[in-house]
Amino acid sequence: MTKTVNDLATLPCLDARAILEHLRSRHASNQYYTYIGDVVVAVNPFKRLNIYGKQYHYKYQKAKLRSDLKPHIFWLADHAYKRMRERRSPQCILVSGESGSGKTENSKLMVQHITFICQSSHPFLEAKINEVNPLLEAFGNAKTAMNDNSSRFGKYLELKFTPAGILTGAKITDYLLEKTRVTQQGAGERSFHIFYYLFAGMTREELSNYYLETPEDYRILRDEARGGPVFNSAADIESHRLMFHKQLNILKLVGFTEWEISMIFTLLGAVLHTTNITLPKHEESDLVYIVDELPLHIVCKLMGLNEAAVAESLSPVPHTPEGASHHEQKPPPSEGWVGMLSPRRCNARLLADCKKLDLSVGILDMSGFENFTNNSFEQLCINVANEQMQ
Ligand SMILES: Nc1ncnc2c1ncn2[C@@H]1O[C@H](COP(=O)(O)OP(=O)(O)O)[C@@H](O)[C@H]1O
Ligand SMILES: [Mg+2]
Repeated sequence: MTKTVNDLATLPCLDARAILEHLRSRHASNQYYTYIGDVVVAVNPFKRLNIYGKQYHYKYQKAKLRSDLKPHIFWLADHAYKRMRERRSPQCILVSGESGSGKTENSKLMVQHITFICQSSHPFLEAKINEVNPLLEAFGNAKTAMNDNSSRFGKYLELKFTPAGILTGAKITDYLLEKTRVTQQGAGERSFHIFYYLFAGMTREELSNYYLETPEDYRILRDEARGGPVFNSAADIESHRLMFHKQLNILKLVGFTEWEISMIFTLLGAVLHTTNITLPKHEESDLVYIVDELPLHIVCKLMGLNEAAVAESLSPVPHTPEGASHHEQKPPPSEGWVGMLSPRRCNARLLADCKKLDLSVGILDMSGFENFTNNSFEQLCINVANEQMQ
């Protein structure tokens, strides 16, 4: 095996081939991080490494020289935090790469390191910031061909600090959520995790509050190509059940009320029922009509909408019985619902103590490159964004 260096910027010749050969040799000797100047290249180990424990946080916090220790993602996080304090200027870390390469895992590790080494202005702030990640992932991540936990949105997390380096809060901005995934997914892929958590985690009775039955009843959850049940095994159900309860705990920790939580489930239920409404075309005209009215009825009940008005907006064919009067559509109580699921809502809880003058370390973790035989328009936007960043 060739001898490798920790910083590829020190190589006499730095071309794509040299970089790849070096990374391959280092991977073969269990060295998954490599520097190229200020850049950290992380190769996915696809196994749990014993290099992220407390002693490693201390080691990288105390290191005098970067070359004293092996390349590590903690160094980058440490460097950004210390530089922010020294220069009194905000810092930003960009994370880019192919889907499934480890961007999100490394972003989380950086947040863990920074929240570990700094003091904070509020007792549970570090926990809240770290816990908000799995919450966003429940609503924004899904199983894809490349990654069982693929981020389908870009996330910019800013950790806010006083000039003395005390953590005061965090702000999350989301980009390019792949909304089409709610209604359609590629072969073998799934919709957003939260829908599966619901069915694995709720009792029959709880599900019935939202008129939900078994996951196979919902078009967007069925894998039409594979057929069979939505969950592959008892273990599949169990892991989703645990995640459901984890989400509930996080929602409470972050400060959502019972009412808000039940509104989130109501909205998810409404999405499942809405996407079950089938709208075939009339044979002679291009107009569509509603076949089965039950899902429509349930959606309107859940969202407090006027059924005739919704039916009319879905299909221009006269729908209400002869003579039935058209009611004014009640303003849906859902005004703030969509926002409730978004990072803005979490921000309100995480930014409580921040001041205008606060400094920050930002970490941009986005959806990764993908290149399949058929690529969606949304993926094209993501690929372009990744390329621009590189
Ligand atoms: N440093 C790491 N240690 C262990 N497993 C990792 C690491 N980085 C990535 N993985 C594995 O690879 C999977 C995909 O990583 P992820 O960060 O979600 O990719 P990306 O965000 O780039 O699409 C993770 O779910 C995890 O199983
Ligand atoms: Mg990701």
